[in-house]
Amino acid sequence: MPTLSLTKKIERLAALKREGAKIAALTAYDYPTARLLDESGVDLILVGDSLGMVVQGKPNTLSVTMEDMLYHTRLVAQSAQRALVIGDMPFMSYQASVEDAVRNAGRFLQVGAAAVKLEGGITVVDRVEAMTRFGIPVMGHLGMTPQSVNQSGGYTVKGKAQDEADTIVSDAKALETAGAFAVVLECMPTGLAIRITEALSIPTIGIGAGRGCDGQVLVLYDLLGLFDEFVPKFVKPYAHLKADALQALRRYKEEIECGKFPTDAESYH
Ligand code: KIV
Repeated sequence: MPTLSLTKKIERLAALKREGAKIAALTAYDYPTARLLDESGVDLILVGDSLGMVVQGKPNTLSVTMEDMLYHTRLVAQSAQRALVIGDMPFMSYQASVEDAVRNAGRFLQVGAAAVKLEGGITVVDRVEAMTRFGIPVMGHLGMTPQSVNQSGGYTVKGKAQDEADTIVSDAKALETAGAFAVVLECMPTGLAIRITEALSIPTIGIGAGRGCDGQVLVLYDLLGLFDEFVPKFVKPYAHLKADALQALRRYKEEIECGKFPTDAESYH
């Protein structure tokens, strides 16, 4: 596919939904991973605040800062030519005020992101409206929202109870009305994700939300089998890079110890 303008890339997501074609999204945090994803043809790269866990080794995403996010977003945005790059707004970069939200969202665009993502429904609708009014495309995030982990009872499936499900549907509609161009649905029953997907004209991108969403997203290191400290049920490891890397590293060490590396082939003469 030829390189499209940012507006066209966002419009293309809506077109994919209308055509019934699925959207593939993944997270990336640096130059090599952004290049890999771009080459693979995924539609959307999210510089997720999941980097707090998979890059920084923290127990959750709460300590991730704007500076962390801008650093990684810049690396990804300058490396990806094809996919739409979305910067994830970290905890407390948009919660305190609409003004904070717009200013911080704008900083993501200044380092090269095409759009931003934030968590929450009705509570962030005024932020989403203000950002879109100022030309900042926004993606929502509903269901299990990791930045609320201390309040929402942990990393559990959301929307099993009817009233909670109805609230999530209302939140999704409110985000669409406020101008969001897509919404991530995380950890919810398949039926609820289908209900939301059918109710919205903007695409839904699921993670642990079943096959009825318009697209899917996973954390790259989960998909590659590189991060095994906590593997949720919805993760499908398409590779086992941790095991492969360990094997390579152990072999490297052994070959140094027994004099097999380096050989003449790896030496200058
Ligand atoms: O931070 C992240 O990587 C995310 C996705 C998993 C949706 O929010």
